[in-house]
Amino acid sequence: MMNTPTSAPLSTDPSFQGLIIAYTTQEVNKIGRRCRVKGLSSCAEFHTFNTTTSTHSRVMVQYSPFVAKDPNGPSPRAVPSPERREFHFDRGHFDFIAALLYRLAGIHLAPHKVEMVYSRLARRLRELGLKDFDAYCAHLDSESGEQEIGFLVNALTTNLTSFFRERHHFDHLGSVVLPAVREAQANAVRPRLRIWSAGCSSGPEPYTMAMILCDRIPDLRRWDVRILATDIDTHMVTTARNGLYSVESLKTIPPALRDRFTRRVVSGDGDVMISMSEELRRLITFKPLNLLESWPMRGPFDAIFCRNVLIYFDRPGRTAVIENFAELLSPDGFLYLGHSESLYGVSSGFLQVGPTIYQRTTR
Ligand SMILES: C[S@@+](CC[C@H](N)C(=O)[O-])C[C@H]1O[C@@H](n2cnc3c(N)ncnc32)[C@H](O)[C@@H]1O
Repeated sequence: MMNTPTSAPLSTDPSFQGLIIAYTTQEVNKIGRRCRVKGLSSCAEFHTFNTTTSTHSRVMVQYSPFVAKDPNGPSPRAVPSPERREFHFDRGHFDFIAALLYRLAGIHLAPHKVEMVYSRLARRLRELGLKDFDAYCAHLDSESGEQEIGFLVNALTTNLTSFFRERHHFDHLGSVVLPAVREAQANAVRPRLRIWSAGCSSGPEPYTMAMILCDRIPDLRRWDVRILATDIDTHMVTTARNGLYSVESLKTIPPALRDRFTRRVVSGDGDVMISMSEELRRLITFKPLNLLESWPMRGPFDAIFCRNVLIYFDRPGRTAVIENFAELLSPDGFLYLGHSESLYGVSSGFLQVGPTIYQRTTR
């Protein structure tokens, strides 16, 4: 193996445990540095081979499970083929679950999501001690299954998010929306600002909004400001409210804001985590909310972010949600969608003013 060393890229797959072969001390240092930057803590063995002196040395470093993948080894993410699955899972099970998810959350599960559904729910079957998917579907269908439905929705919604994701939206918020609100309320004793993060996932989106507000409104204390952050996934709402994130997730926050609004803490498990400052937290209210059910709030909102959520809905679901947003937005309010979403064919009540940025047209 030492004759064919490679500097394989670091994998971010947490399940892989293995050996890293590096050619040079610089490579070892580089990999070690990247591991440390990720705030990681297990132990790894590195080997170096000096081609001039033909000497081999072994280095132990602290690292995380983020290690190089063995290109010849099995893929740790491999999904078991249907015949090797622990539980039998067929089209009938998938259709039953897909119909339920659609009815409850408006989320359309495309047939190619079958492996995702299997792997996320197989874990749940194990937790519940159920013997197969027939038993799980029966459980969902029973009176006692009502509580299980929350677990199902949480398990099957995709929560990918990050701080300053699609940064141009936050630039627009800071450079267009805030000055416009300030100007419109120039004579107000207490200018009012309302923003909604609809589908906030674990919270980086509303915390990013809060950083922009604190950074761009010097007299913020004088303002009446609220950020509403909602999601259907109750676990995500709890995570968002806790405001604790991995060191790794910080890297998309500009350094000046990172220094001002976050601090390192040690969690109960001894892990170093990043905590959002009190200054940000007090601006945000976190609530569970299904966008396809009725909404308790009245608005008006100056801006609504509903990014990378509508993709899960079918056209009638999207149209209903967008119409409700239009009702709740102030007359010139802004709506921000995800990078692959658009209002084309969904609503004519908005004018596109930037990439995936829409402004409500006065009714
Ligand atoms: C991909 S995340 C997007 C997070 C964030 N908006 C962003 O763009 O970074 C999609 C979120 O939408 C939420 N979601 C899915 N269906 C929903 C529904 N019917 N009502 C409210 N939230 C929903 C999911 O729970 C998930 O947290």
